[in-house]
Amino acid sequence: MAEFTLPKNSVISKKGKAYKVEGKAGRTKSFKVYRYDPDTGQNPRYDTYELNLDECGPMVLDALIKIKNEVDPSLTFRRSCREGICGSCSMNIGGRNGLACTTAIEDVKGEVRITPLPHCDVVKDLVPDFTHLYAQYASIQPWLKTATPDPSGKERLQSPEDREHLNGLYECILCFCCSTSCPSYWWNGDRFLGPAILLQAYRWLADSRDEMTGERLDQLEDPFRLYRCHTIMNCANVCPKGLNPAKAIAETKKMIAERAA
Ligand code: SF4
Ligand code: SF4
Ligand code: FES
Repeated sequence: MAEFTLPKNSVISKKGKAYKVEGKAGRTKSFKVYRYDPDTGQNPRYDTYELNLDECGPMVLDALIKIKNEVDPSLTFRRSCREGICGSCSMNIGGRNGLACTTAIEDVKGEVRITPLPHCDVVKDLVPDFTHLYAQYASIQPWLKTATPDPSGKERLQSPEDREHLNGLYECILCFCCSTSCPSYWWNGDRFLGPAILLQAYRWLADSRDEMTGERLDQLEDPFRLYRCHTIMNCANVCPKGLNPAKAIAETKKMIAERAA
């Protein structure tokens, strides 16, 4: 069996801080939160924060905001919309990737362990580094590409039937819960585009107005960029928007097979 040695500075230190609720509290819950600040030169640690749930909103993001506002202002995480639209607050909660703003505290049994999305470099605490994922996103040229002039001279129209092909694709919020839960992406993320980017790539292949289908397929037809997907389905299981990147990947493979036939 393969053995892996973690870099010294990624080993979790045993010395985390613990913060208890002061005074009397009715319902309490502990949040064990990954802390890492590369600027300090110290190893990561888990800090544990006990919160009074009677004075906290219902979502995991509410707990993190309460900790930051009232207990420990140094805690760092991303968030914006707080309603599952911006994709900023993706993290691993209780062993599962998800959005902190749409994950209810009561749905996580026992102590709530919160870490950054797995297999990403960490900028600080719960903030993963998406530089590589964004570069992969740019590589698929995620915009409408045409070769012929727009016949109306005003806008490129689409029938309701053609527009329907984008359902299940346009809703992606680029939270990367899927890519960072994909074992194939963990091992081959340098060259495999992973489920989030491949779903986005298919979103343009499926768009009736786009005229660069052949070029897009040429770019994807590669043993690593596309064919490292082995239909493990973690991506579809974890997507907080209920999307199915594995299906989009299968459709792309089908388009490539059909044009070769
Ligand atoms: S179906 Fe493909 S992309 Fe999705 S988790 Fe599995 S290997 Fe990764
Ligand atoms: S497919 Fe789902 S999990 Fe993946 S990036 Fe898009 S919204 Fe997030
Ligand atoms: S804060 Fe925008 S998706 Fe959670």
